[in-house]
Amino acid sequence: MLVLGIESSCDETAAAVVEDGRRILSDVVATQIPFHAAYQGVVPEIASRKHSEWIHGVVSRALSEAGLGPAGLDGIAVTARPGLVGSLLVGLSFAKGMAYALDKPLIGVNHILAHLYAPQLVSPIPYPFLGLLVSGGHSIICKALDVAEIEILGTTIDDAAGEAFDKVSKYYGFGYPGGAYIDRLAQEGDETAFRFPKPNLYKGEKGGHRYDVSYSGLKTAAIHQLEQYRRPGAEASPANIAASFQKAACDILLDRLFKAVEDTGLKTIVAGGGVAANSYLRRVLGGRQDLTVHFPPLKLCGDNGAMIAGLGGRLLERGERSGFDLNASARVPLYRKLGQQGS
Ligand code: KG4
Ligand code: ZN
Repeated sequence: MLVLGIESSCDETAAAVVEDGRRILSDVVATQIPFHAAYQGVVPEIASRKHSEWIHGVVSRALSEAGLGPAGLDGIAVTARPGLVGSLLVGLSFAKGMAYALDKPLIGVNHILAHLYAPQLVSPIPYPFLGLLVSGGHSIICKALDVAEIEILGTTIDDAAGEAFDKVSKYYGFGYPGGAYIDRLAQEGDETAFRFPKPNLYKGEKGGHRYDVSYSGLKTAAIHQLEQYRRPGAEASPANIAASFQKAACDILLDRLFKAVEDTGLKTIVAGGGVAANSYLRRVLGGRQDLTVHFPPLKLCGDNGAMIAGLGGRLLERGERSGFDLNASARVPLYRKLGQQGS
């Protein structure tokens, strides 16, 4: 089954063709980063305008690189949620138009589930496993039960992990988006120069928050209270700040993730999302000999069409379909089991 996947939830206009939910035939990502960099953040109106300018070209290229015409497709998958509504609507309308004109099945895909599906495009991973989904918009620790069902164990109570990287980077002028810049700077830094605070939200069973994380304390410490957390004699160089912040930001996630490993007994971990590209996170998790850890290849960590076409293909194979009343939605509820349609 040959499925076209369209992704336009944020600042990447992307399309890909994937065969049988597994084999990537093409994967085209047009990034809008240079257009948002001047504002140090994604400007929703610019994002939707770029998506509408680029979508036709990106989809055409994904088809031609796969050696296909539109008629050769067996279905069309598109990100329907969560994301910027104006941006989602561009991809969604384009996908609906194609599906209608070609008389092909349409399937709306949940972007969060698609990030977790990305490593499945490299090799099949049996369910259940623990998922770590970390991006600019989400930080989720979950139990993945199936391609289309996760049970959320923990999430952030304030900023997402990637958002914290972006804000700290913005403050210090390291570059935009911050994660990759901090990661690069950290290579030359001393991660023990600063010992930043690690939040402990868990106050016993009644207080909840067993697997939840928070980034507001770390962000404030890294921005405003550097001196307070500096090891005597350590230099407050950009590389040292980056390395120490990166370690603290990832340790916050790892701490809760390892708690989930202990509690659930699940020994397979699948990471996804832009922050899954982080070298410290990959090194520490990859070093756990007692766990089987799957990271997506770097190209599939950030937003891409292949993860949408992959997951969409698996859903279409099961006979799932979306109607033309499929709508875009900015959010998905995160307190309980999350299925394809976010409810
Ligand atoms: O998944 P993604 O491309 O878009 C969303 O769905 O949000 O994630 C983008 C986020 C940004 O916050 C970016 O700073 C972060 O991923 N990121 C990283 C790295 N590369 C990208 N964070 C930490 N280390 C990296 N190497
Ligand atoms: Zn994403």
